[in-house]
Amino acid sequence: MSFRTTSAFDYVEDVSPGSGALPPRAWYASSDAKALPLDGAWRFRLSATADAEDDSFAEEGYDADGWAEVTVPGHWVLQGDGAFGLPIYTNHLYPFPVDPPHVPTENPTGDHLRVFDLPEDWPADGGAVIRFDGVESCARVWLNGTDIGEFKGSRLAHEFAVGHLLKPKGNVLAVRVHQWSAGSYLEDQDQWWLPGIFREVTLLHRPAGGVLDFFVHASYDHLTGEGTLRVDSDVDGRVLVPALDIDVATGEPATTLVAPWSAESPRLYDGELVTEGERVPLRIGFRTVVLEDGLIKVNGKAVLFKGVNRHEWHPEKGRTLDLETMREDVLLMKRHNINAVRTSHYPPHPAFLDLCDEYGLWVIDECDLETHGFTEQDWRDNPVDDDRWTPALLDRAARMVERDKNHPSIVFWSLGNEAGTGRGLTAMAEWIHARDSSRLVHYEGDWNCRDTDVYSRMYANHAEVEQIGKELDGGTHKRRGLPFIQCEYGHAMGNGPGGIADYQELFEKYDRLQGGFIWEWIDHGVKHAELGYAYGGDFGEELHDGNFVCDGLIFPDRTPSPGLIEYKKVIEPVRIDGADGTVRVTNTYDFADLSGLAFEWSYQVDGETVEAGTLSVPALAPGESADLKLPEPPAHEAAEAQWTVRALLASDTAWAPKDHVVAWGQFPASSGVRPSVAPTDRPVRGEKLITLGPASFDGRTGALKAIGGVAVESPRLDVWRATTDNDEGTEWASGIRYSSLWRTLGLHRMRHRLSSVELGEDALTVRTRVAPAAREVGLGVVYRWTSDGSRLRLTVSVGPEGEWTQPLPRLGIRLGLPEADQVKWYGGGPGEAYPDTRKASMVGRWQASVDELQTPYLRPQENGARADVRWVELGGLRIEGDPEFSFTARRWTTEQLDAAAHLTDLTPGDTVWVNLDHGHHGIGSQSCGPGPLPQYHLRAEPAEFSFVFSVLSR
Ligand code: GAL
Repeated sequence: MSFRTTSAFDYVEDVSPGSGALPPRAWYASSDAKALPLDGAWRFRLSATADAEDDSFAEEGYDADGWAEVTVPGHWVLQGDGAFGLPIYTNHLYPFPVDPPHVPTENPTGDHLRVFDLPEDWPADGGAVIRFDGVESCARVWLNGTDIGEFKGSRLAHEFAVGHLLKPKGNVLAVRVHQWSAGSYLEDQDQWWLPGIFREVTLLHRPAGGVLDFFVHASYDHLTGEGTLRVDSDVDGRVLVPALDIDVATGEPATTLVAPWSAESPRLYDGELVTEGERVPLRIGFRTVVLEDGLIKVNGKAVLFKGVNRHEWHPEKGRTLDLETMREDVLLMKRHNINAVRTSHYPPHPAFLDLCDEYGLWVIDECDLETHGFTEQDWRDNPVDDDRWTPALLDRAARMVERDKNHPSIVFWSLGNEAGTGRGLTAMAEWIHARDSSRLVHYEGDWNCRDTDVYSRMYANHAEVEQIGKELDGGTHKRRGLPFIQCEYGHAMGNGPGGIADYQELFEKYDRLQGGFIWEWIDHGVKHAELGYAYGGDFGEELHDGNFVCDGLIFPDRTPSPGLIEYKKVIEPVRIDGADGTVRVTNTYDFADLSGLAFEWSYQVDGETVEAGTLSVPALAPGESADLKLPEPPAHEAAEAQWTVRALLASDTAWAPKDHVVAWGQFPASSGVRPSVAPTDRPVRGEKLITLGPASFDGRTGALKAIGGVAVESPRLDVWRATTDNDEGTEWASGIRYSSLWRTLGLHRMRHRLSSVELGEDALTVRTRVAPAAREVGLGVVYRWTSDGSRLRLTVSVGPEGEWTQPLPRLGIRLGLPEADQVKWYGGGPGEAYPDTRKASMVGRWQASVDELQTPYLRPQENGARADVRWVELGGLRIEGDPEFSFTARRWTTEQLDAAAHLTDLTPGDTVWVNLDHGHHGIGSQSCGPGPLPQYHLRAEPAEFSFVFSVLSR
């Protein structure tokens, strides 16, 4: 028997960061030095183990004609239709035995080969480096047969000096990439495991006397309005900023009046760093970030983060994003009032940070570090508390800071995510503080804030956040002096997140609370031929976390989900409320006055705009309010009327055109009349049917059969909804799992016992008891039908019987219509709304097709309810509510929706199922976080609600 002791493959399990790479430096694009992108088709060979093949493929002249091809940048598991393996999704569990630093012998290894010629005009002098912007998880590189080194740190740049190896033609670049390595232990982020060269590979010419590394220090003094610029450069040169008349030597400060940079007004000055051999463009933003009076202040002002966590994601390309996709993310964020982004949980592609500088977003740049899987063993052997790993951690910290240090948008360096606590993190924080005193350090995992400049938490509930806001949370002396952010909250999985408006109120109320970052930006669904979008488990993974990877504010194709629309409303930078013909406008920006916005009012009667005009609002400074008189309302008949006031962009901006709606408010002007039906008709018993006004009922059961010519599947009480991801909850989050409580109780299988059908003077009354098998609890339900000859009124009275300890999912009636396509309604819209997700729902007249009413959550679940509805028209009927109600309409039943795992499981049937709801239980965010607040619970209590049905004339 023999044991392998050392081998050419030991680097894979070596905890050190690697060898051969150049020291990290700022990432920039030169004005004049040549660059050769090595993107495109590469030859590719996949092996099952790290050591299956020797390194002969790296030799010049190797014949790789029989190899497959992959596109670089890209992940091999997303190419080759499964021939190159498949993606794996786990949240925090390592998909391999926790045996650090060892990784499985089965270690998919992709050999990549690319032969390239230098362009004709490639200079003969100077040097060259080859830069890898991202390779998961470990690579060894050869150029023209020479081994130039190996590295780990998947989402960090690595450069190698290769000038001495280059030749004009036929250069052979060979890269061996291992899916698993010691580095994988540091990269246990909640996302797909996707090996490959997923960011660009570029050959950069390095001219003699060229720029090496440089650090732009650009501060702003809010008291004098002056900015001070100093560019420290490894190679001496000059710094030019024409717009500011700056022309100074590197290392020399220059102070002058400037416009500062902020996320709201991202003023960048174009400059240049000129050394003897090179010119490099600079985009300079002057701002000063400090921790002062226990607050994070930028340019002298405390800021409120209205943020999101962004993973890099594309449904077909994984974490390979092109510039336009990155720009789309930034534009979508800006258009939805988002002002901050945490680059969870690794430094993004550098071009994304350029976009944040340009369009204006505060950034928490997070290091590529997470060791969450060690929580399964009480953090034993956690690499961040083991000195052997510290060089790798410091390497990661340095690679992040050095690469990204010249971005004004970055206000925080984050040590990583969910890595427990330990000496390695402290070492990282110390190194970062020493290297860059102009920014603050963030890390959530240490609630004592030993190493950090902010107290950061994830998913703390409202009550705790309020305690923290009131400074009653205790904690270490250091923590008590720090501001607070929720680096993750509002878990946007499926329908939701609920309760974000309640958080925002707290953030705005207490100075110490400086806002939060919704988890997360995008659903990581993988485009899939049969399933539409795949999630965890769809690739046959032996261990996976299902659709927990689909928890974004936008769908994989980047269409906004209702959660994003709600968030936009909740965080709008202008508050508009009003009463009695007066509107109050409050500027909640941190820096900007309101001169960039134009205001419009409109007046709606029964949801139709009857008059509109502009409103002149002074250029209020941040924090200021003004009360403005609205015009005399137009005369109209007694009807419900509202004022709607909108704040729009007054002119085109870089991120949205003129007239883009930034904020709005709506408030009542007069209230409407409730629908009434004088009960003049008497129910009449026929041979098989009972008739009442326009309606006919089953003579035995009293079930409604038709209204006029419209056949109806009789309405009956419904309490069930296809459970949402938040209803499902998670054991380890808040502990509330409504789905299992409700199913245990049997609310998904309620039985209806008919007790009587009574024909009265002016009403048909049907009494029932609705209850689940095996349980004592039930709901006494009385349906009372009346008519004035043309209209039909149903009043439903519900009386709980027995001890109800759980809230109901929903309370209302469900009916079926043979055909319905276009739906019109007057009420909240245009999108879905539930009790704790209804800020963005605007009262008006809306219309949509039944198909358009569906929200395509990747795992099908309750969705699409329109709230505060006064009336709805569909399928030939008009239905008015007393009081207002909520409705859904679908081409499948709730049971089918509940059973579906993917949208492709839903097939339209012949009936449109309509739910008319008196109430819904709140949504909450307990898929990872707190459940709905008590005020959004739907308790089993006596209730009464009515609907008036009439037939629409065709
Ligand atoms: C957090 C974690 C995120 C994500 C989220 C749940 O604990 O930092 O990466 O897993 O929970 O979706």
